[in-house]
Amino acid sequence: MAKEIRTIGVMTSGGDAPGMNAAIRAVARACAYYNVKCIGFYRGYQGMIEGDHCIMNARSVRNIISRGGTILKSARSKDFETPEGRKKAADHLKEIGVDAMVLIGGDGTFRGGKIFSEEYDIPVIGVPGTIDNDIAGTNYTIGYDTALNTVIDAIDKIRDTASSHDRLFFIEVMGRDAGFIALNSGVGAGAEEILIPEEDLGLERLLESLKRSKRSGKSSSIVVVSEGDKIGKNVYELADYVTDNLPDYDVRVTVLGHMQRGGSPSCFDRTLASRLCVKAVELLLDGEKNVMVGLLDNKVTATTFEVGLKEGHEINKELLRISDILST
Ligand code: F6P
Repeated sequence: MAKEIRTIGVMTSGGDAPGMNAAIRAVARACAYYNVKCIGFYRGYQGMIEGDHCIMNARSVRNIISRGGTILKSARSKDFETPEGRKKAADHLKEIGVDAMVLIGGDGTFRGGKIFSEEYDIPVIGVPGTIDNDIAGTNYTIGYDTALNTVIDAIDKIRDTASSHDRLFFIEVMGRDAGFIALNSGVGAGAEEILIPEEDLGLERLLESLKRSKRSGKSSSIVVVSEGDKIGKNVYELADYVTDNLPDYDVRVTVLGHMQRGGSPSCFDRTLASRLCVKAVELLLDGEKNVMVGLLDNKVTATTFEVGLKEGHEINKELLRISDILST
């Protein structure tokens, strides 16, 4: 028989993402609704290891649904990668009386959750929160939609100045291993070319494409580059390479960086966070454990960590074709 869940812990881990606060709120409020005690851990797994926690009730999460960042703070814990670290975390949870955990974060968080759940009999549910959208068990991760809108907004502004000065801009966006942000913002912002880790465009093709756009009468251009792109040059080297080979272009670089992780979450991210976290609490109360929740075909679905983490969360390469057609 599944053990009774009287106290649920919650934490946010890995790179923060807009909507994490909405997720924390949803866990705390769902716990209050179901008369379950809720405990928040600071700085993800590190707070679990150090026993750094606070009691959360429905009022402790007032007015946070609209705030970026995470009130519980976030971290990537090296200590949790060791068996000793995980034991300390399990000991603290037992000491405080935490029966189950909701883990909000990305792939690193889920890998930690998977190994922890194999070693200790403490049910966990993962909630995908990362701007990168690189989790297979969900169509959307919390924070991705807001990050896309932030990127689009920035590119629109850069386009204004690019056009005034007839310049070519390389704009680097986040996505260490995944090109979701680059691909979707690139199409949404009408980029000339989009460079993503999943598809090596090649330097020759890039030059060809830029030559073609000059010939077609374009005076300014935007190339969106994912930070994890595999073309073999970072964004600055890429800009130098194009300057050397196509001296007609006046090239500039903008790295959008961590601004992509901040800001008030979009309505989509707030709603997604609310739906996923209510489900996470309900699953734990129903005796479910060691799965991640996600949105698949607009249904909140539970998926094993193995499936959720599997390689090949396919990027929609059709968007590259669309981009090619529309950048004519
Ligand atoms: O949140 C994920 C991510 O945005 C990656 O795309 C990026 O490479 C990474 O975080 C950078 O994070 P940090 O600066 O926190 O190491």
